[in-house]
Amino acid sequence: MTNYVIETHDLTKKYGSQVSVSHLNIHVKRGRIYGLLGRNGAGKTTTMRMLLGLTAPTSGEVSIFGKPFVGNEKKLLPRIGCLIESPGFYPNLTATENLKIFAELRGLKNPNYIKGALELVNLPYRDKKLFSQYSLGMKQRLAIALAVMHDPELLILDEPINGLDPIGIAEVRDFIRELCDARGKTILISSHILSEISLLADDVGIIDHGTLLEEESLKELEEKNEKYIHFCVSEAQKAAQIITRAFRSNNFRLADGNNLYLYDTDLPVASLTRAFVEAGIDVQEAHLCEDTLEDYFKRITGGEGIA
Ligand SMILES: Nc1ncnc2c1ncn2[C@@H]1O[C@H](COP(=O)(O)OP(=O)(O)OP(=O)(O)O)[C@@H](O)[C@H]1O
Ligand SMILES: [Mg+2]
Repeated sequence: MTNYVIETHDLTKKYGSQVSVSHLNIHVKRGRIYGLLGRNGAGKTTTMRMLLGLTAPTSGEVSIFGKPFVGNEKKLLPRIGCLIESPGFYPNLTATENLKIFAELRGLKNPNYIKGALELVNLPYRDKKLFSQYSLGMKQRLAIALAVMHDPELLILDEPINGLDPIGIAEVRDFIRELCDARGKTILISSHILSEISLLADDVGIIDHGTLLEEESLKELEEKNEKYIHFCVSEAQKAAQIITRAFRSNNFRLADGNNLYLYDTDLPVASLTRAFVEAGIDVQEAHLCEDTLEDYFKRITGGEGIA
């Protein structure tokens, strides 16, 4: 019996000769938010579609709540809420009427389900506005309301902030966090926006060209960021000698005659600077730097950054 709510084993999807997802092994823990991060075309949607049985894997397995997905679909799917592609809402009905149709299909009798879901996403209950008159952001919220309406234990949300303005994005982030923290939901969310994942996820899977490059907690990921003290001085070589002799460290790199990068970040910047100045070295810059997640992402994908 596994502790993971979602676990995949060598999950692979090929379209003809194109490999969209390759030997993917992801592990989504109970009661946490897992962010699947990757550029456009990385394989996020294909992965989520396979998790939900919307497309069959070419090879590999999916297990959900510790059970193989194949053969247990009928038991597992009611425990999952998803937003993969826009649901087919009726344009000439209101939000409440639309949700009512889906509630009936799912056998949900109590109207509180609809009211609760709309409240969660900040849309009015029994409002007269038709779906066709909704803004893109409102449509997206309604799609999320539909995903959570039956109070599932697991939510799979493919780029839920697409089409939202900055305030809408912050609101969605807040209620996704609340669903996890206050209601104990497990959430798998995909995004191509690094800052979004870093603000929301507890665990992160980085997918690139269909391959999972990293999987770890956000905390671990952040700790991997390189830290260093950057000195821009008149004589870097002389500064290096002072660091070696007076501060007993060789853990630095000289970039050129003026720039020195010191990786012993515990050494006191003020004392170092004073020692340099006393030795007649001009100090133009001295500060503690840290690589951003963006730098890290670039490093491991060996390419361009991500927004
Ligand atoms: N039905 C399909 N037939 C052929 N190729 C497909 C199909 N669906 C996806 N692909 C290809 O698989 C790769 C992964 O696509 P996918 O939609 O999973 O990426 P994504 O990470 O969700 O990207 P985005 O951020 O743009 O949504 C892409 O190269 C895409 O062209
Ligand atoms: Mg996608």
